[in-house]
Amino acid sequence: MLDLRFARAVPRSATVVALAVAKAAAPEDDAESDETGDLDVLGTPPAGVDADELAAFLREVEHKGKAGSVQTWVRPLQPVTRLLLAGVGTGDEAGWRSAGAALARKAKGEERLAVLLPPDCGEAEVRGLAEGLWLASYRFSLTSDDDDGPKLRWVTLVTGAEASVADALETARTAARMTMLARDLTNTPSDRKTPEWMARQLVREARDLTGVTVTVRDPAQLAAEGFGGVLAVGGGSASGPRFVEISWRPRGAKRHVVLVGKGITFDTGGVCIKTRDGMKLMRKDMGGGAAVAAATFGAAARRLPVRITALVPLAENMVSGAAMRPGDVIRHYGGITTEVRNTDAEGRLILADALQYAVRRLRPDVLVDLATLTGAQSVALGKRTAALFSDNEALAEELTAAGADAGERMWRLPLHDDYTEALDGDDTDLVNSTEIGGGAMMAALFLRAFTGDYRDRWAHLDMSAPAWSDKTDGDLSKGATGWGVRTLLRWLETQAAS
Ligand code: BES
Ligand code: MN
Ligand code: ZN
Repeated sequence: MLDLRFARAVPRSATVVALAVAKAAAPEDDAESDETGDLDVLGTPPAGVDADELAAFLREVEHKGKAGSVQTWVRPLQPVTRLLLAGVGTGDEAGWRSAGAALARKAKGEERLAVLLPPDCGEAEVRGLAEGLWLASYRFSLTSDDDDGPKLRWVTLVTGAEASVADALETARTAARMTMLARDLTNTPSDRKTPEWMARQLVREARDLTGVTVTVRDPAQLAAEGFGGVLAVGGGSASGPRFVEISWRPRGAKRHVVLVGKGITFDTGGVCIKTRDGMKLMRKDMGGGAAVAAATFGAAARRLPVRITALVPLAENMVSGAAMRPGDVIRHYGGITTEVRNTDAEGRLILADALQYAVRRLRPDVLVDLATLTGAQSVALGKRTAALFSDNEALAEELTAAGADAGERMWRLPLHDDYTEALDGDDTDLVNSTEIGGGAMMAALFLRAFTGDYRDRWAHLDMSAPAWSDKTDGDLSKGATGWGVRTLLRWLETQAAS
């Protein structure tokens, strides 16, 4: 992880690149206009630079301050060899996040960067900037030499007001570190990433966190306790399924949150097999599980006073002589039965067990699940927007707000009660797939059938498309995004406070 720390002055040895930050004109101004807005230069001059000279230089600069746009100046003033001017837009957290990400990418060829913070720089600005810097410098590589060129290693945030923003840097550090953990897990190829391997990684990550316990159920234990969905989906794989339960139980916590995350380590579709193109990226199908685990670890690392249980059912959906078939009947944890109509609608089958386990055994205050559940999610909302489902207005608003602050967008879709009859089985309680369209909502309605008396305290996030990015862009690197970790951490902060 990039070394990011505060200093009161630009370190002499370290300064390869210095920076000042520009703020765009007011939001009501036409953003597309070619006019240069009033440049508001926020940074303080580095030592050895004459303030008047800097001011004169900046007066000549044409920079619209657009968030994430960076200008590079070579030897603009003695003794600065390179100066980057980064726009922060209107100066909100998202603008600072874009600036941080753009700086990390522009300064890639340098080892050390000093960022001059404005004197009135607050928590949101530091949090955004630091998250952007950290996340944009994320890399995942399995190359033989493990050397993909020069790398930015040290960033100094220059400020005289470190005390007031030190917490913000630590908050951002945890969010970034846990997002990167989720990215690493999700990027890992599925030959390595078996359910057992995933469980082992989660156990290992929890080892250094006091107060966190992790229990892993193997197939024998799952059979003994009746986790029929997890066993059916995992039955076709040479690598048996697991069920991971992570618990963070701080003293004095008033609320108990249960997070459930889909952990399909690879989804071929099973006997109802996907197309070649359709399964290309299906190693990402545990992105929800990675996100809820990472968020729980992050909350524990920050000692947030809220009890959290994360449940991650893990299975590989494969084709084999032992795989489940269409027409098979599953008896889920707790007894609800489902006829398998489509073996590719496997995520809901493992989540059903976990949701029933949550409501029967854990009795939480609130229940949230994250899953790469349907292709229909991206048809409805595209690549960068998750689908949110909940019958609880307040919970829906809280999650949406947390996502907006975190830079992870979601949009609420309906749960129409009259559609549920399409899920009725002929001789089972439910079927796992229908042919009436509305795929993302139908999947959500299926899950809702397993929330029992928690129906109004439950939310479901379908993050199928946002879990992955086709290109490097802003704080996202090509590949796994770690979607949900930052949203959940923000939301958990509010849960700890209530
Ligand atoms: N893991 C997929 C959903 C998915 C698709 C995630 C594309 C990310 C990108 C899920 O298990 C699945 O296959 N869903 C089916 C459900 C259908 C068979 C009812 C789908 O969406 O096609
Ligand atoms: Mn599937
Ligand atoms: Zn799947």
